[in-house]
Amino acid sequence: MIKLAGIDIGNDSIKLVLDGSREPLVIPNIIAPGYERHILQEEDSPWKALDVVIYSPSLSQRNQRYFVGQLALEHEDNLELEDTDNKALSDQSLIVALTALAYQGLTNQAAGPGYGNVDEVEYTLGTGLPVRSFPKYSQTFEHRLLGEHEVTFLSTPQFHNRKIKVSIRKVAVSIEGAAAMFHMATHDSLQVKDEEIYNGCIGVCEIGALTTDFPVIKRMAIDNHFSHGEQIGIATYLDAIIRDVEDAYGHLFPSRAKLAQRVKNRQFTIQLPGEGQVDIRPIVDLHFRRAAVRMVEMIKKRWRKCPDIQCFYVIGGGATALKPYIQDAAGAMKLRFTNDSEFLNVNGYLKVAKSRLNQSVPV
Ligand SMILES: Nc1ncnc2c1ncn2[C@@H]1O[C@H](COP(=O)(O)OP(=O)(O)OP(=O)(O)O)[C@@H](O)[C@H]1O
Ligand SMILES: [Mg+2]
Repeated sequence: MIKLAGIDIGNDSIKLVLDGSREPLVIPNIIAPGYERHILQEEDSPWKALDVVIYSPSLSQRNQRYFVGQLALEHEDNLELEDTDNKALSDQSLIVALTALAYQGLTNQAAGPGYGNVDEVEYTLGTGLPVRSFPKYSQTFEHRLLGEHEVTFLSTPQFHNRKIKVSIRKVAVSIEGAAAMFHMATHDSLQVKDEEIYNGCIGVCEIGALTTDFPVIKRMAIDNHFSHGEQIGIATYLDAIIRDVEDAYGHLFPSRAKLAQRVKNRQFTIQLPGEGQVDIRPIVDLHFRRAAVRMVEMIKKRWRKCPDIQCFYVIGGGATALKPYIQDAAGAMKLRFTNDSEFLNVNGYLKVAKSRLNQSVPV
């Protein structure tokens, strides 16, 4: 059976949602070179120890071993994406995406395939690219995903030495931010849920880790002239916070994801050797205030250029992080925020796949 899924290949995290399930799978977009690790106590969930070998015709290096997501978070040699990376071409993003698809395939499979056989999972996928890279890279991106890939889990608890073939049959690529609005405007059945969004002219500011997208959507169609994207996201500011905390207190966060996790959980106190503790909140405030001012300036500029815009939605993981600061910086200008804003795109991608591709999928 072919599974229908939405996958948001984010620079910060990969989000995967299957048709019919509410809970998205989220894996931080971070990898480290894999090796035979010493296990003192096995992790309590496979998600915490994704240790894989990946074969894919789309990767420049085949059959390499990687620690992915949580397992790479604390690793000295871990790799996070930089703002010069292009997610349509990035091997790292594809490695994490294939791991997510394989993981989901094994999780939903009742039992193994029997001795010596290989599991297989087939997908029809909806996904997306930022406004700026969509025109040039959407086809390449689609072709990199399509086809047959193979993921073998090694020391991952519950999945020891299981190999699964991930076959991607069809891919629909849409645009970050725009897909999010499609999700908000429609029910799961794709019937209209919100008339204002569905029929109006809507401005969107989608703040991701490395890019911020400003699509303008008129009656659910993307406006070619006014839509815009910026190569800046929350990661730029997280990196500045990491630097300042190191300069001030000598404490180095092992990864951006680690800092983001703390900010998300509002744990602003860090432990120093010798039982000292410091509050990094003032440093976070300083940089997030700067980020918010910059975002509000960009929104104002876009809104002035396109006065037809009726309302402006601020979404993406960055919107959750910056909401109070943006509201402060926006003053009297009314902006809209939503719950679950980092999962709007992935849900939108699933719906786009449903509406564009699903008709011809055999039941
Ligand atoms: N509640 C929160 N508090 C603080 N930071 C958050 C929160 N939610 C998300 N973030 C951070 O916001 C950033 C953007 O998250 P998001 O999931 O939108 O990025 P992405 O989709 O992976 O990246 P991109 O869109 O650039 O590819 C991430 O660095 C994430 O860690
Ligand atoms: Mg994103």
